[in-house]
Amino acid sequence: MQTLKIMLPILIGVFLFMSILPYGKRENPKSDPSLALEAPANVQKIFKRSCYDCHSNHTVWPWYSYVFPLSWSVMDDVKNGRRALNFDEWKKYDEQTQAQLKDAIARKSGVTMPLKAYLWFHKDAKLSKEDVQTIQKWAYSKE
Ligand code: HEC
Repeated sequence: MQTLKIMLPILIGVFLFMSILPYGKRENPKSDPSLALEAPANVQKIFKRSCYDCHSNHTVWPWYSYVFPLSWSVMDDVKNGRRALNFDEWKKYDEQTQAQLKDAIARKSGVTMPLKAYLWFHKDAKLSKEDVQTIQKWAYSKE
């Protein structure tokens, strides 16, 4: 009990300290709106709801992105997510990359994407069967 009384404040202190350390950045870089993906409204709506927090420059940073150790994990997910696929910079990709990304989107949607841990906090981001079909139809269409 005595040890706990000493250890607990230290532990809380360490977590608070880690939380305010300037590791990573919670920022939304500005990008030219004309570079953003243009997809039919029903497809766009699904991406905005379920993917944009990690795959766009319009991340809504949640409260837990300020709390260590979740903060580090969220910042990493957004950094790596944007690097892998950024809907706000879609038109920067060449045609071949866009085709590859569409294929990956069709395969991953509802399987590994959105990330499982994200869905714990964002129940509404879960893709329904219809959502996945809508995404795949768009991804495999030729336009
Ligand atoms: C919580 C953050 C998060 C959300 C939400 C999320 N992703 Fe991702 N996504 C990532 C991360 C991180 C990566 C890169 C590492 C990896 O491939 O696992 C990634 C990778 C990908 C890739 C791979 C790109 C490539 O180069 O092959 C695709 C495709 C993708 N995501 C699609 C989606 C789609 C579609 C949604 C929404 C239905 C979505 N993601 C939602 C974090 C996220």
